[in-house]
Amino acid sequence: MSKVTVVGAGKYGSTTVQRIAEWDIVDEVVMTDIVEGLPQGLALDMNQSRPLLGYRTLVKGTNAYADTAGSDVVVITAGLPRKPGMSRMDLLGVNAGIVTAVTEEIVKHSPEAIIVVVTNPLDQMTTLAAQVSGFPKNRVLGQAGMLDSARFAHFISEVTGVDILKVHAVTLGSHGDTMVPVPSLCTVDDKPLTDVLSAEAIEGIVDRTRNGGGEIVAYLKTGSAYYAPSAAAASMVKAIVTQAGTTMPVCAWMDGEYGIKGVYLGVVAKLGARGVDEIVELDLTADELSSLQEAAVAVAQKVTDLDNLG
Ligand code: APR
Repeated sequence: MSKVTVVGAGKYGSTTVQRIAEWDIVDEVVMTDIVEGLPQGLALDMNQSRPLLGYRTLVKGTNAYADTAGSDVVVITAGLPRKPGMSRMDLLGVNAGIVTAVTEEIVKHSPEAIIVVVTNPLDQMTTLAAQVSGFPKNRVLGQAGMLDSARFAHFISEVTGVDILKVHAVTLGSHGDTMVPVPSLCTVDDKPLTDVLSAEAIEGIVDRTRNGGGEIVAYLKTGSAYYAPSAAAASMVKAIVTQAGTTMPVCAWMDGEYGIKGVYLGVVAKLGARGVDEIVELDLTADELSSLQEAAVAVAQKVTDLDNLG
Protein backbone atom coordinates (compact mmCIF):
# COMPACT_ATOMS: atom_id res chain seq x y z
CA MET A 1 0.00 0.00 0.00
CA SER A 2 1.40 3.32 -0.85
CA LYS A 3 -1.08 6.18 -0.99
CA VAL A 4 -3.00 7.76 1.86
CA THR A 5 -5.24 10.83 1.66
CA VAL A 6 -6.19 13.02 4.59
CA VAL A 7 -9.18 15.29 3.95
CA GLY A 8 -9.04 18.46 6.03
CA ALA A 9 -5.78 20.32 6.64
CA GLY A 10 -6.75 21.76 10.01
CA LYS A 11 -4.94 20.90 13.22
CA TYR A 12 -6.14 17.31 13.36
CA GLY A 13 -5.65 16.58 9.67
CA SER A 14 -2.26 18.21 9.22
CA THR A 15 -0.80 16.61 12.35
CA THR A 16 -2.10 13.22 11.17
CA VAL A 17 -0.37 13.79 7.82
CA GLN A 18 2.84 14.78 9.57
CA ARG A 19 2.87 11.63 11.72
CA ILE A 20 2.17 9.27 8.82
CA ALA A 21 4.84 10.95 6.69
CA GLU A 22 7.46 10.88 9.44
CA TRP A 23 6.90 7.15 10.00
CA ASP A 24 7.93 6.61 6.36
CA ILE A 25 5.39 3.82 5.83
CA VAL A 26 3.80 5.01 2.55
CA ASP A 27 5.06 6.56 -0.69
CA GLU A 28 2.70 9.52 -0.71
CA VAL A 29 0.29 11.30 1.61
CA VAL A 30 -2.19 13.64 -0.05
CA MET A 31 -3.65 16.40 2.11
CA THR A 32 -6.66 18.24 0.78
CA ASP A 33 -8.84 21.08 2.05
CA ILE A 34 -11.29 23.62 0.69
CA VAL A 35 -9.04 26.50 1.79
CA GLU A 36 -6.81 27.40 -1.14
CA GLY A 37 -3.09 27.37 -0.37
CA LEU A 38 -3.43 25.86 3.10
CA PRO A 39 -2.63 22.23 2.23
CA GLN A 40 -0.03 23.31 -0.33
CA GLY A 41 1.84 25.49 2.17
CA LEU A 42 1.75 22.91 4.94
CA ALA A 43 2.87 20.16 2.56
CA LEU A 44 5.83 22.20 1.31
CA ASP A 45 6.88 22.90 4.88
CA MET A 46 6.60 19.22 5.86
CA ASN A 47 8.51 18.03 2.80
CA GLN A 48 11.40 20.30 3.67
CA SER A 49 11.73 18.51 7.01
CA ARG A 50 12.52 15.20 5.25
CA PRO A 51 16.32 15.57 5.05
CA LEU A 52 16.38 16.70 8.68
CA LEU A 53 14.32 13.80 10.00
CA GLY A 54 15.44 11.20 7.46
CA TYR A 55 12.25 9.99 5.77
CA ARG A 56 11.14 9.80 2.13
CA THR A 57 7.33 9.98 2.15
CA LEU A 58 6.19 12.88 0.01
CA VAL A 59 3.24 15.03 1.07
CA LYS A 60 1.09 16.58 -1.65
CA GLY A 61 -1.09 19.51 -0.70
CA THR A 62 -4.05 20.11 -2.99
CA ASN A 63 -7.58 21.45 -3.36
CA ALA A 64 -8.41 18.97 -6.14
CA TYR A 65 -9.79 15.48 -5.51
CA ALA A 66 -8.23 14.31 -8.76
CA ASP A 67 -4.93 14.26 -6.87
CA THR A 68 -6.34 11.83 -4.32
CA ALA A 69 -7.18 9.23 -6.98
CA GLY A 70 -6.36 5.63 -6.17
CA SER A 71 -5.80 6.16 -2.45
CA ASP A 72 -5.59 3.01 -0.35
CA VAL A 73 -6.77 4.76 2.81
CA VAL A 74 -8.64 8.06 3.20
CA VAL A 75 -8.93 9.78 6.58
CA ILE A 76 -11.82 12.25 6.90
CA THR A 77 -11.06 15.07 9.34
CA ALA A 78 -12.98 17.79 7.47
CA GLY A 79 -15.63 19.44 9.57
CA LEU A 80 -16.40 22.23 11.95
CA PRO A 81 -15.88 22.11 15.68
CA ARG A 82 -18.91 23.14 17.76
CA LYS A 83 -19.06 26.93 18.08
CA PRO A 84 -20.76 29.02 20.79
CA GLY A 85 -24.50 29.27 20.08
CA MET A 86 -24.49 26.17 17.89
CA SER A 87 -26.79 23.37 18.97
CA ARG A 88 -25.77 19.72 18.73
CA MET A 89 -28.21 19.33 15.82
CA ASP A 90 -26.75 22.40 14.06
CA LEU A 91 -23.29 20.87 14.25
CA LEU A 92 -24.63 17.51 13.12
CA GLY A 93 -26.27 19.16 10.11
CA VAL A 94 -23.16 21.08 9.04
CA ASN A 95 -20.74 18.19 9.47
CA ALA A 96 -23.16 15.73 7.86
CA GLY A 97 -23.17 17.96 4.77
CA ILE A 98 -19.37 18.09 4.72
CA VAL A 99 -18.88 14.34 5.30
CA THR A 100 -21.47 13.49 2.64
CA ALA A 101 -19.76 15.69 0.05
CA VAL A 102 -16.30 14.40 0.94
CA THR A 103 -17.41 10.75 0.87
CA GLU A 104 -18.96 11.18 -2.60
CA GLU A 105 -15.61 12.44 -3.89
CA ILE A 106 -13.76 9.55 -2.25
CA VAL A 107 -16.07 7.02 -3.90
CA LYS A 108 -15.55 8.71 -7.26
CA HIS A 109 -11.75 8.84 -7.08
CA SER A 110 -10.76 5.98 -4.77
CA PRO A 111 -13.44 3.28 -5.10
CA GLU A 112 -11.28 0.67 -3.35
CA ALA A 113 -10.25 2.83 -0.40
CA ILE A 114 -10.64 2.15 3.29
CA ILE A 115 -12.24 5.17 4.98
CA VAL A 116 -11.22 6.22 8.48
CA VAL A 117 -13.57 8.85 9.93
CA VAL A 118 -12.57 11.21 12.73
CA THR A 119 -15.02 14.09 12.21
CA ASN A 120 -17.41 14.57 15.14
CA PRO A 121 -19.99 13.50 16.12
CA LEU A 122 -18.03 10.35 15.41
CA ASP A 123 -20.65 7.60 15.53
CA GLN A 124 -23.04 9.47 13.26
CA MET A 125 -20.33 10.57 10.85
CA THR A 126 -18.91 7.04 10.54
CA THR A 127 -22.40 5.67 9.91
CA LEU A 128 -23.02 8.37 7.33
CA ALA A 129 -19.76 7.72 5.48
CA ALA A 130 -20.70 4.02 5.32
CA GLN A 131 -24.19 4.83 4.01
CA VAL A 132 -23.05 7.38 1.42
CA SER A 133 -20.11 5.29 0.17
CA GLY A 134 -22.01 2.03 0.00
CA PHE A 135 -18.65 0.38 0.74
CA PRO A 136 -18.61 -2.94 2.60
CA LYS A 137 -18.82 -2.06 6.30
CA ASN A 138 -15.36 -3.46 7.09
CA ARG A 139 -13.90 -0.74 4.83
CA VAL A 140 -15.42 2.14 6.83
CA LEU A 141 -14.33 2.67 10.42
CA GLY A 142 -13.98 5.48 12.91
CA GLN A 143 -11.49 6.71 15.47
CA ALA A 144 -12.56 7.08 19.10
CA GLY A 145 -11.39 4.18 21.24
CA MET A 146 -7.67 4.54 20.54
CA LEU A 147 -7.77 8.09 21.84
CA ASP A 148 -9.86 7.35 24.92
CA SER A 149 -7.69 4.33 25.75
CA ALA A 150 -4.56 6.46 25.44
CA ARG A 151 -6.03 9.12 27.71
CA PHE A 152 -7.08 6.44 30.18
CA ALA A 153 -3.53 5.02 30.14
CA HIS A 154 -2.01 8.47 30.64
CA PHE A 155 -4.13 9.18 33.71
CA ILE A 156 -3.45 5.70 35.15
CA SER A 157 0.27 6.30 34.73
CA GLU A 158 -0.03 9.72 36.34
CA VAL A 159 -1.93 8.40 39.38
CA THR A 160 0.11 5.21 39.92
CA GLY A 161 3.50 6.65 38.95
CA VAL A 162 4.07 3.60 36.71
CA ASP A 163 5.95 4.01 33.41
CA ILE A 164 3.40 4.92 30.70
CA LEU A 165 4.80 2.16 28.49
CA LYS A 166 3.94 -0.41 31.15
CA VAL A 167 0.30 0.63 31.35
CA HIS A 168 -2.24 -1.17 29.18
CA ALA A 169 -5.70 0.41 29.13
CA VAL A 170 -8.77 -0.20 27.05
CA THR A 171 -12.07 1.60 26.53
CA LEU A 172 -14.93 0.47 24.34
CA GLY A 173 -18.30 2.03 23.43
CA SER A 174 -17.79 5.54 22.18
CA HIS A 175 -16.75 9.03 23.31
CA GLY A 176 -18.28 10.76 26.33
CA ASP A 177 -21.29 9.29 28.08
CA THR A 178 -21.22 6.17 25.96
CA MET A 179 -17.55 5.41 26.70
CA VAL A 180 -17.19 1.98 28.32
CA PRO A 181 -13.96 1.63 30.29
CA VAL A 182 -12.81 -1.93 30.82
CA PRO A 183 -10.88 -1.91 34.12
CA SER A 184 -10.97 -5.71 34.32
CA LEU A 185 -8.64 -5.89 31.30
CA CYS A 186 -6.37 -2.95 32.20
CA THR A 187 -2.93 -3.76 33.54
CA VAL A 188 -0.24 -1.75 35.29
CA ASP A 189 3.23 -3.27 35.20
CA ASP A 190 1.54 -6.59 34.33
CA LYS A 191 -0.71 -6.40 37.41
CA PRO A 192 -4.50 -6.01 37.11
CA LEU A 193 -5.49 -2.37 37.54
CA THR A 194 -8.20 -3.49 39.94
CA ASP A 195 -5.45 -4.85 42.28
CA VAL A 196 -3.47 -1.63 42.14
CA LEU A 197 -6.15 1.05 42.59
CA SER A 198 -9.37 1.25 44.56
CA ALA A 199 -12.70 1.24 42.73
CA GLU A 200 -13.09 4.88 43.76
CA ALA A 201 -9.71 5.88 42.33
CA ILE A 202 -10.49 4.05 39.07
CA GLU A 203 -13.85 5.83 38.85
CA GLY A 204 -12.07 9.19 39.23
CA ILE A 205 -9.74 8.33 36.36
CA VAL A 206 -12.67 7.13 34.24
CA ASP A 207 -14.46 10.45 34.79
CA ARG A 208 -11.41 12.41 33.77
CA THR A 209 -10.98 10.23 30.68
CA ARG A 210 -14.63 10.69 29.74
CA ASN A 211 -14.12 14.44 29.87
CA GLY A 212 -10.63 14.20 28.33
CA GLY A 213 -11.40 16.36 25.30
CA GLY A 214 -13.37 18.92 27.32
CA GLU A 215 -10.52 19.43 29.79
CA ILE A 216 -8.18 20.36 26.94
CA VAL A 217 -10.73 22.63 25.24
CA ALA A 218 -11.19 24.48 28.55
CA TYR A 219 -7.45 25.26 28.61
CA LEU A 220 -7.14 26.16 24.94
CA LYS A 221 -10.30 28.33 24.85
CA THR A 222 -10.36 28.05 21.05
CA GLY A 223 -9.87 24.80 19.16
CA SER A 224 -9.63 21.29 20.49
CA ALA A 225 -7.09 18.53 21.05
CA TYR A 226 -5.08 17.20 18.16
CA TYR A 227 -1.76 15.69 19.26
CA ALA A 228 -3.21 12.55 20.82
CA PRO A 229 -6.16 12.41 18.39
CA SER A 230 -3.81 12.52 15.38
CA ALA A 231 -1.57 9.88 16.98
CA ALA A 232 -4.66 7.68 17.28
CA ALA A 233 -5.80 8.19 13.68
CA ALA A 234 -2.28 7.79 12.29
CA SER A 235 -1.87 4.53 14.27
CA MET A 236 -5.00 3.17 12.60
CA VAL A 237 -3.60 4.06 9.18
CA LYS A 238 -0.30 2.42 10.09
CA ALA A 239 -2.05 -0.78 11.18
CA ILE A 240 -3.94 -0.89 7.87
CA VAL A 241 -1.03 -0.15 5.53
CA THR A 242 1.60 -2.25 7.28
CA GLN A 243 -0.80 -5.20 7.65
CA ALA A 244 0.97 -6.29 10.80
CA GLY A 245 -2.21 -7.76 12.30
CA THR A 246 -2.40 -5.05 14.94
CA THR A 247 -5.46 -5.01 17.19
CA MET A 248 -6.78 -1.74 18.61
CA PRO A 249 -10.03 -0.14 19.76
CA VAL A 250 -11.87 1.39 16.81
CA CYS A 251 -15.42 2.33 15.87
CA ALA A 252 -16.50 -0.70 13.81
CA TRP A 253 -19.70 -2.17 12.38
CA MET A 254 -21.23 -4.74 14.71
CA ASP A 255 -22.63 -7.91 13.23
CA GLY A 256 -23.62 -9.96 16.25
CA GLU A 257 -20.43 -9.65 18.32
CA TYR A 258 -21.25 -9.29 22.04
CA GLY A 259 -24.88 -9.86 20.97
CA ILE A 260 -24.89 -6.46 19.20
CA LYS A 261 -25.90 -6.01 15.58
CA GLY A 262 -26.42 -3.24 13.03
CA VAL A 263 -24.62 -0.32 14.66
CA TYR A 264 -21.16 1.29 14.62
CA LEU A 265 -19.57 0.89 18.05
CA GLY A 266 -16.17 1.13 19.72
CA VAL A 267 -14.67 -2.35 20.02
CA VAL A 268 -11.24 -3.92 19.72
CA ALA A 269 -10.59 -5.03 16.17
CA LYS A 270 -7.78 -6.49 14.10
CA LEU A 271 -6.94 -4.08 11.28
CA GLY A 272 -5.42 -4.93 7.93
CA ALA A 273 -5.76 -4.66 4.19
CA ARG A 274 -9.53 -5.10 4.38
CA GLY A 275 -9.87 -2.38 7.01
CA VAL A 276 -11.49 -4.25 9.89
CA ASP A 277 -10.29 -7.83 9.44
CA GLU A 278 -12.01 -9.10 12.53
CA ILE A 279 -13.62 -7.89 15.75
CA VAL A 280 -11.90 -9.35 18.80
CA GLU A 281 -14.45 -10.28 21.45
CA LEU A 282 -12.89 -9.57 24.82
CA ASP A 283 -13.72 -11.46 27.97
CA LEU A 284 -15.78 -8.74 29.68
CA THR A 285 -17.34 -8.83 33.12
CA ALA A 286 -21.16 -8.96 33.19
CA ASP A 287 -21.26 -5.24 34.13
CA GLU A 288 -18.90 -4.25 31.32
CA LEU A 289 -20.89 -6.29 28.81
CA SER A 290 -24.18 -4.71 29.82
CA SER A 291 -22.57 -1.22 29.64
CA LEU A 292 -21.42 -2.01 26.11
CA GLN A 293 -24.88 -3.20 25.13
CA GLU A 294 -26.39 -0.03 26.63
CA ALA A 295 -23.86 2.07 24.70
CA ALA A 296 -24.97 0.32 21.50
CA VAL A 297 -28.59 1.26 22.19
CA ALA A 298 -27.59 4.89 22.91
CA VAL A 299 -25.53 5.13 19.72
CA ALA A 300 -28.32 3.58 17.62
CA GLN A 301 -30.67 6.18 19.05
CA LYS A 302 -28.25 9.04 18.23
CA VAL A 303 -27.89 7.76 14.67
CA THR A 304 -31.63 8.25 14.11
CA ASP A 305 -30.90 12.01 14.32
CA LEU A 306 -29.37 11.67 10.85
CA ASP A 307 -32.80 10.81 9.46
CA ASN A 308 -34.27 13.95 11.03
CA LEU A 309 -31.89 16.35 9.31
CA GLY A 310 -34.16 16.67 6.32
N1 APR B 1 -13.60 19.57 2.37
C1 APR B 1 -12.33 19.62 2.82
N2 APR B 1 -11.97 20.27 3.95
C2 APR B 1 -12.93 20.91 4.63
C3 APR B 1 -14.28 20.90 4.21
C4 APR B 1 -14.60 20.19 3.03
N3 APR B 1 -15.85 20.13 2.57
N4 APR B 1 -14.99 21.62 5.12
C5 APR B 1 -14.13 22.05 6.04
N5 APR B 1 -12.87 21.63 5.75
C6 APR B 1 -11.63 21.88 6.48
C7 APR B 1 -11.50 23.29 7.02
O1 APR B 1 -11.13 24.20 5.99
C8 APR B 1 -10.40 23.12 8.08
O2 APR B 1 -9.11 23.36 7.52
O3 APR B 1 -11.56 21.07 7.65
C9 APR B 1 -10.54 21.64 8.48
C10 APR B 1 -10.95 21.45 9.93
O4 APR B 1 -9.88 21.90 10.70
P1 APR B 1 -10.03 22.52 12.17
O5 APR B 1 -11.11 23.53 12.20
O6 APR B 1 -8.63 22.89 12.62
O7 APR B 1 -10.57 21.30 13.04
P2 APR B 1 -9.72 20.09 13.65
O8 APR B 1 -9.26 20.43 15.01
O9 APR B 1 -8.72 19.67 12.64
O10 APR B 1 -10.86 18.98 13.82
C11 APR B 1 -11.45 18.36 12.70
O11 APR B 1 -12.07 16.42 13.98
O12 APR B 1 -12.10 15.99 16.27
C12 APR B 1 -12.84 16.35 15.15
O13 APR B 1 -14.57 17.69 16.11
C13 APR B 1 -13.43 17.72 15.32
O14 APR B 1 -14.92 17.46 13.52
C14 APR B 1 -13.72 18.08 13.90
C15 APR B 1 -12.57 17.42 13.13
